[in-house]
Amino acid sequence: MSTEAPLPIAQIGEPILREVAREVTPEELATPETQAFIDRLVGTMRHARGAGLAATQVFDGRRICAIEVGENPRYPYKPRIPLTVLVNPKLTPLSDETFMNYEGCLSVPDLRGLVPRHVGVRVQALDRHGAPIDREVWGLSAGTFQHETDHLLGTLFVDRVQDPKTLCTWATFEAHHKAAFVERVEALVARFGA
Ligand code: NI
Repeated sequence: MSTEAPLPIAQIGEPILREVAREVTPEELATPETQAFIDRLVGTMRHARGAGLAATQVFDGRRICAIEVGENPRYPYKPRIPLTVLVNPKLTPLSDETFMNYEGCLSVPDLRGLVPRHVGVRVQALDRHGAPIDREVWGLSAGTFQHETDHLLGTLFVDRVQDPKTLCTWATFEAHHKAAFVERVEALVARFGA
């Protein structure tokens, strides 16, 4: 793990957050520079206690994101996701069914909002070593994968909020919306195991 300082995180309004990230070739992925960048992306995600971080959020235009949910005080109700680095990810919905996910983002300070997400997605990508990933992700975790890969298409969760009246801060989420949301999440997790 890199001991370098965390990278600065782009905040909403930065043009790079609206760019479509560019594909990474297997040759570029294998370079020490790209591998060191991935280490710093992961280190920055962990330092910021995010559930995921996309390259565009650290001012880098490559189509790479990291996802990890461990013991996270920011999201105590989230099922665990082991560290996953996705290169050139492509998501395909596996169901038209959606669930409403309360999301936040390291690039959108102190704001959460309710976003519809597919309950299941097929995830195709390369891992950091260039090996193919092809798996299904269901339940709350599917929302996390959709949020992160959205970043690489220039989309932020606020774009997908259907009812702006659901917007809240972290404090008002805790005070007024968390209990009902966690109840719905627990039903989703019970159904999909994730
Ligand atoms: Ni985000």
